[in-house]
Amino acid sequence: MPKNSTFYLEAYHRTPEQAQLVQATAELTLPAALCKQAQAAIVQWQHYQPTAMHELNHLAKHYGLASLHCKDEGTRFGLGSFKALGGAYAVSLFAKTAGQTVACATEGNHGRSVAWGAQRAGVDCVIFLHEGVSTAREEAISRYGARIIRVPGTYDDAVRECARLSAQEQWQIISDTSWGDYQDIPKFVMAGYSIMAEEIQAQLSAPPTHVFLQGGVGGLAAAMMACLGRAWPEAAICYIVVEPRYAACLQASARAEGQYRSTPGPFHTVLAGLACGEPSTAVLPLIYQRSQLYLALDDEAIKQAMIQYARPLADDPRIIAGASGAAGLAGLLVLQGVCELKKQVNLDKHSRVLVINTENDTDPAAYRAMIG
Ligand SMILES: Cc1ncc(COP(=O)(O)O)c(C=O)c1O
Repeated sequence: MPKNSTFYLEAYHRTPEQAQLVQATAELTLPAALCKQAQAAIVQWQHYQPTAMHELNHLAKHYGLASLHCKDEGTRFGLGSFKALGGAYAVSLFAKTAGQTVACATEGNHGRSVAWGAQRAGVDCVIFLHEGVSTAREEAISRYGARIIRVPGTYDDAVRECARLSAQEQWQIISDTSWGDYQDIPKFVMAGYSIMAEEIQAQLSAPPTHVFLQGGVGGLAAAMMACLGRAWPEAAICYIVVEPRYAACLQASARAEGQYRSTPGPFHTVLAGLACGEPSTAVLPLIYQRSQLYLALDDEAIKQAMIQYARPLADDPRIIAGASGAAGLAGLLVLQGVCELKKQVNLDKHSRVLVINTENDTDPAAYRAMIG
């Protein structure tokens, strides 16, 4: 492993009984009916269209893989990230009365989605940002008419402050993370993400063998594991979770056999969307049962992946990937250099790899600084 990166390889052998258990956990975490309902609604939204699935043939050949596909969420509803699907969808369900206020804490992308959804629904919106969120991200949220509240500390501190003030003011929290008995709405947020899996199934001629998934609070990873597992029930897909080096709460929870574990801040990482120290409690069992490998990467690995996307090999497509967007590919690139680990997850010439570019240059200055 490169210096400053860590990994955790899930050791237990999965039996057929465990495969059944995983399906049951997937249904509990994200019921198929919720996903169908979300998909039926979102395809009706104005300007809905599936995002692109790019083939990176030269890069696949370079690394000796059968194929490498990138689902590119950078164009999702003009919001720059897959988060456009979740928050806005949950707002459409839970904010129907004029005079209502919705609220959430965010690293940027989820808040932008909630603010957009609130504007569409005609309700007020309050977004809690921790001190590290850039002004560019704040402006992108304010553009939809949301009121911003800044909170000292980390994303997790902003989540707590949002919960406290929303209880006092009777605002409806639309969070992408779950805790305590706040469990339902994050499921609807994940149901919004499920449309990605539906599109992926339609866009790929065969199931992927390896899927690299970015982990913040775990909503994206769990939604993809539940839905891709349903799309291809017979395929033994290897899921690899990629997190920032110092905010790897999903890896920490896996090391504790799927028990809730948090990682303390402050988080110094370019991975603005993934700098979460506390996992979403609702997703932990599924992520633990489904993931095979966890990677916690430093910023240098992310930078290499962003550059790889921006300056592709030969006539592979050029993709604009922000730091959190590029983290999946960064996981693949790092793994290429660790032969033993590659072997253990069977990443070889038969592998059909899927990565998701989860955001474009949602913070343009940060993007330019990384790409040079
Ligand atoms: C661009 C991007 N990718 C990935 C993630 C991770 O999603 P989750 O927090 O659901 O794990 C986020 C979260 O905000 C994000 O903004």
